[in-house]
Amino acid sequence: MTAPPPPSVRARRGPPLSGTTLVPGDKSISHRAIMLGGIATGPTSIKGLLESEDIAATMAALKAVGASVRHDPQTQNWTVEGPGLENLQESDSVLNMGNSGTSARLLIGLLGARPMTSFFAGDASLQKRPMGRVIEPLTQMGLTFMARHQGRLPLAVCGKGPLRPINYRLPVASAQVKSAILLAALSIEGTSTVIEPIPTRDPTERMLRAFGADIHVEKTAAGTHAIHLQGRPKLTGQKINVPGDISAAAFPLVAALLSEGSAITLQNVGINERRAGLITSLLEMGGNIALENKRTHGGEEVADLHVKGSKLHGITIEKERAPSMIDEYPILAMAAACAKGTSRFKGLEELRVKESDRLTLVAAGLRQAGVDVAIEGDDLIIHGNGMPPKGGALINAALDHRIAMSFLILGMLTDQPITIDDASPIATSFPNFIPLMTKLGGNIA
Ligand code: S3P
Repeated sequence: MTAPPPPSVRARRGPPLSGTTLVPGDKSISHRAIMLGGIATGPTSIKGLLESEDIAATMAALKAVGASVRHDPQTQNWTVEGPGLENLQESDSVLNMGNSGTSARLLIGLLGARPMTSFFAGDASLQKRPMGRVIEPLTQMGLTFMARHQGRLPLAVCGKGPLRPINYRLPVASAQVKSAILLAALSIEGTSTVIEPIPTRDPTERMLRAFGADIHVEKTAAGTHAIHLQGRPKLTGQKINVPGDISAAAFPLVAALLSEGSAITLQNVGINERRAGLITSLLEMGGNIALENKRTHGGEEVADLHVKGSKLHGITIEKERAPSMIDEYPILAMAAACAKGTSRFKGLEELRVKESDRLTLVAAGLRQAGVDVAIEGDDLIIHGNGMPPKGGALINAALDHRIAMSFLILGMLTDQPITIDDASPIATSFPNFIPLMTKLGGNIA
């Protein structure tokens, strides 16, 4: 029997974009809300949760270890209730993380430190991603692993040994590694410390604090952050409001900037400074973005983004900004391809180990679409001439949602359409991407 062909999708040039929309809930916050809700005492209710495949993987895992997750279709609220961290049960089946690196790394820490054995599997993309970065510190804490070469999934982890707190300096700027350690540390008596040379996104720290953990962050003059967490806290269920995800807003935002005459509003978008590097960069490129109605929503700073079609110019972005916009380089590369002049994005080695090798795929796809692009070491260099390239490419999305969405946005601007071989991975983070873009005037089908 032959498999059905993958669902290819094509984007064509259309009219200027207009309208006002909400974007899906923040993916990082949604994962943590389910995880902490599932181990706290008492119910946690969540408003604005991202409803996507990656979050479904996290939910399924929490259910498999004894938590309940319920959806109220009337209020759109989700309620998570767990047996308490100490009472999680060993899952009697393999925990399937699908495409989600965040689910895998965080749950390996959280569940791996329990006195039970957990088996983790993932799809073809996740099987290629490095888990050694969490296995190494978690092994220092006393967890034991059985994993494939270089720590690839599938793997098994067991927390039955004597476990000890850790003092760990992150060798890579990774919120997932930081979070895996902190979530493991919850099961271990004593204070664990994670040192971040460059601050990364902080939803784990914020949410642990909100649930009642004893966590504090010490900032040094050199810009380093030391996060101290006391093990075995009493966590209590909370009410969580999830803001819109800037990583999802990034797609309509760049589409509107690049399409002459466009004017859109993206409401209630999280603008936490650890996440907002894209906005800083697009403003530096000359983008017309106004952040209005700034307020706090669920403990996070949010704003409505008013975006207008703009003439962009190339910029250089230093490596230090990368953690605050790590998921946004593919879509920013599309903006650079249409901007006037050269852009250089420095120090992008982490892009090689995302859902795909994004550095290679972005460069290859742009080249196919007629853009002059180069990779020098870990830098991406894009020469734009102030207008969209010719397009006309068939892009291999390689199970990567952000590669798929980024090239569809480019295809909304180019002379010739751009086709994505398989758009199904978009459902991992932004299931309503095509209807949302279509409602704003985009031509994607
Ligand atoms: C995430 C952290 C980032 C990011 C990912 C979500 C998180 O990964 O790319 O999409 O929720 O902690 P790294 O920590 O590997 O940079």
